[in-house]
Amino acid sequence: MPKQVSFSMPFKGRFVKNIVFAIAALIVCFQGSFAQNAERFFEKKDLMQVGTYYYPEQWPESNWERDIKKMADLGFEFTHYGEFAWSTLEPEEGKYNFEWLDKAVALAAKYKIKVVLCTPTPTPPAWLTQKHPDILMVNAEGRTIKHGARQHASWSSKTYEGYIDKIVTLLAKRYGNNETVWGWQIDNEPSHYGASFDYSENAQQAYSAWLKNKYKSIDTLNKVWGNAFWSQTYNNFEQIRIPNAKELVQQANPHSILDFKRFNADEAARFVLLQKDILRKYIKPSQWVTTNLMPHHSAVDPLRMKALDFQTYTKYLAEGYDLGHGEQGFRMGSAHSIGYSNDFFRPINGVSGVMELQPGQVNWGLFNPQTMPGTVRMWMYHVMAGGNKFVCNYRFRQPLSGGEQYHYGIMKTDGISVSRSGDEYVKVINELKQLRKVYQAGTATPSILAKRKSAILYNPDNRWEMENQPQSNQWDYVAHVNRYYKALKSFGAPVDVIDESHDFSAYPFLIAPAYQLLDRNLVARWKTYVENGGNLVLTCRTGQKDREAHLWEELFQNPILELIGASEIYFDLLPATLMGKVKMGEISYNWNNWGDVIQPNSGSSVWASYTDQFYKGKAAVLHRKLGKGTVTYVGTDTDDGQLENKVLKKVFTGANVPTLSLPEGVLVEYNDGFWYGFNYSSKTHVMPMPAIAKVLIGDKTLKSAEVVIWKE
Ligand code: GAL
Repeated sequence: MPKQVSFSMPFKGRFVKNIVFAIAALIVCFQGSFAQNAERFFEKKDLMQVGTYYYPEQWPESNWERDIKKMADLGFEFTHYGEFAWSTLEPEEGKYNFEWLDKAVALAAKYKIKVVLCTPTPTPPAWLTQKHPDILMVNAEGRTIKHGARQHASWSSKTYEGYIDKIVTLLAKRYGNNETVWGWQIDNEPSHYGASFDYSENAQQAYSAWLKNKYKSIDTLNKVWGNAFWSQTYNNFEQIRIPNAKELVQQANPHSILDFKRFNADEAARFVLLQKDILRKYIKPSQWVTTNLMPHHSAVDPLRMKALDFQTYTKYLAEGYDLGHGEQGFRMGSAHSIGYSNDFFRPINGVSGVMELQPGQVNWGLFNPQTMPGTVRMWMYHVMAGGNKFVCNYRFRQPLSGGEQYHYGIMKTDGISVSRSGDEYVKVINELKQLRKVYQAGTATPSILAKRKSAILYNPDNRWEMENQPQSNQWDYVAHVNRYYKALKSFGAPVDVIDESHDFSAYPFLIAPAYQLLDRNLVARWKTYVENGGNLVLTCRTGQKDREAHLWEELFQNPILELIGASEIYFDLLPATLMGKVKMGEISYNWNNWGDVIQPNSGSSVWASYTDQFYKGKAAVLHRKLGKGTVTYVGTDTDDGQLENKVLKKVFTGANVPTLSLPEGVLVEYNDGFWYGFNYSSKTHVMPMPAIAKVLIGDKTLKSAEVVIWKE
């Protein structure tokens, strides 16, 4: 750094500038190591720590000590307080009551339980919204969302920010040096849930300012949005409203929708990160700061919250929506639900945690089944196998009144007996004590896993753009990605979901599913990756548009054509009542979601072709070698993922990387010296393992919802 100082400067000026640079460099290093090294908050030998939610404000004070002692007796290592407690902390404006929280924290300390403390910002008190109704969010119908549930405040309200600043500052000052407070959670699942987007005046103004900042001039915006068509041209930024289908006759301008989704995700991140900045002013460096996000909630972008120490997610699987695998799958959920969340959140900061895990039956599902015995334990080990540093059960006690009646807890409704899922938690807590004893630091990752290491490339822009312009009612981005993820997991491959800031060369296999928006720089990076030996898999829709979602003034998908070895592509979509056919080898596959019809260049191998429709005989899957690596383009999206599985298998085999062929619902994972086998299927499965394997937990014959853990 100091080398950059100009030598022509007078000595005094140079000296001052040197000092400034040195301080700046120190700050950058300091912040950099904070952001990058989230491992420092945890001891590897603890493997995974286990906690449970508690709401002191919801129970008579006479219960607290009994409950917290019980928590400690059962072996929980941390608890979680306060994310909804604003009206108890500040019952009237400026009249604070922290004594109850002091007592609850002190009780945790007495029983040697750490506390995750939260900012209460999803629940502004009634006095606040009564005094300032303008802080409330407004839904697409123009209805102001009122006090009575949660997450009803606008992320864009400056008035609300002022109140947040006060309460968060007081909490940070009071508990920021408290030894019992382990870390902080900001807000709770920031998302606005089903109301999704905020159309309030605050949001309108913030959106306009965001656009002004991005485009600088209204002419540029008009050009990028293609506003000359349909006379959509704006004279100034103030005329622009948030695109809202409820107030328009036809579909809004697609670029305005994409920009609005970017803005909304920026607002969510700003709302979280401004609280992080307040906390960081007062809390000690050893306390971490995170938030808890819902995997797959598309309106909020975890990547924009990278400045948190690390991220955590919340997970509910047996809720009637996720029917899992086979007849009993609804009691366990899909084998890929926890896995994908692990592999999505962990690469963001290198460390992740699970802030909420379903404790058994819940109250809000489509229907609320009992979990298959063993399921909660299996989920917990799946969380651990994904490298999470902790898992927190939602919640210790089943509520008797207020929201969330019927929601299981660790304790039964009497508050003193342990529930069935509570027993499963206790079992894991005790088994963990044994596993910690046999943990060996520094165990090298088995070479077969390094060979299979795969990445899925993700950018929320692609998802937002395709949500807006799916082109078929059968297009489903999440399901599309999941077909590739599922195939990789059936091979026993470790997977990271990464964004473009990552180094692709760390992965022998890189899949960019439906990567619709890109630029030539990314295509050049892909090319270099392949030339150096990487195996790149691109799928349908990739490269149709530039980053602002303009089609290229070139042949359709032109920027990727040379890379994939094709001269032209068009796509076809079928009705739900018709299945098209694609043949690969001797096997025929059904499709109707998406079909790219590809004209190959000479030298490219056609791996699969359409066998019906007017383009019968044309290519559906293309493969080529380039430099030391390979490029494969999969133009078809099926429902059952069999074709996708077959293609990926051929890519792995071609690269001489052996794979497993695990049946549906069965998983093998590895983390830090331990191998894990999980059975989410409805059938018994015998887990293959080498003769040298030493089983530590369970048995290699796995019934539904069972786990086996071994070392090799
Ligand atoms: C979560 C939420 C919790 C609680 C839980 C009930 O999504 O973050 O506060 O409501 O659901 O299952």
